[in-house]
Amino acid sequence: MHKILRKRILNPAVEEIVVEAPYVARKCQPGQFIIIIVEEGGERIPLTIADFNREEQSVTMIYQVVGHSTQLLQQKNVGDYLSDVAGPLGLPCVDHKPKKVIGIGGGVGAAPLYPQIKMHAENDTEIDVVLGGRSADFVILQEEFSKLSKNVFVATDDGSLGTKGFVTNIVQKLLDEGNRYDEIIAIGPIPMMKAVVNVVKPFDIPISVSLNPLMVDGTGMCGGCRVSIAGKTKFACVDGPDFNGYDVDFDEITSRQGMYKDQENGHNCRIGL
Ligand code: FES
Repeated sequence: MHKILRKRILNPAVEEIVVEAPYVARKCQPGQFIIIIVEEGGERIPLTIADFNREEQSVTMIYQVVGHSTQLLQQKNVGDYLSDVAGPLGLPCVDHKPKKVIGIGGGVGAAPLYPQIKMHAENDTEIDVVLGGRSADFVILQEEFSKLSKNVFVATDDGSLGTKGFVTNIVQKLLDEGNRYDEIIAIGPIPMMKAVVNVVKPFDIPISVSLNPLMVDGTGMCGGCRVSIAGKTKFACVDGPDFNGYDVDFDEITSRQGMYKDQENGHNCRIGL
């Protein structure tokens, strides 16, 4: 059983909880995820690790309330317990100490982006961050990123916060102004990551994206999370979730997501995204 230590409402549909999970907190690295079960016998929910605290032995999860199980999670409060927290799962991102990085987070994609940017900040890497969302309500963790980088840019579709437009408009402008990065990390909805890849391609900068296909077991057994990477079949849960953005077949992911939409009802995709 895993006690909920803290809880915060980030916007009407997105919440953050900090949960006691000693084993995961001891082992997890940026880029990895967990699977939780809210109540015994319940559904497995893959969730992004938004942060971890090895001393407190806790992990932070940010999730969108999109279906029955996350509604159940929404009803839990500080002091309540989660039945299971399994992980860490997936491959950690590689800690290779680049000189300058730009992190791009769309909506809840800012959650898995945060531990990666924090890792780079701890290595004294120069960092730019671009956050985006439909409106001000959907831009999360702006304050937290501002503690890691002096350059946090925001774009909203309706202009209610930051620049009116998309994250790609800001990325294009930064590149056109001559900013150069050793690495780009883009995490958010599939159309956003695909658009960012198309913008940065002419500049030939390495880009990693984080994929969130349907997940069931999270151990490479069920095949639910298969994706095509450089023409080869990979499983996001064990070979990812981070991949080279230039190698990803985004169109295939989009069409598979559409195929499962009715059955899925938001239950089993990694809900940090
Ligand atoms: Fe089953 Fe990845 S979730 S193979």
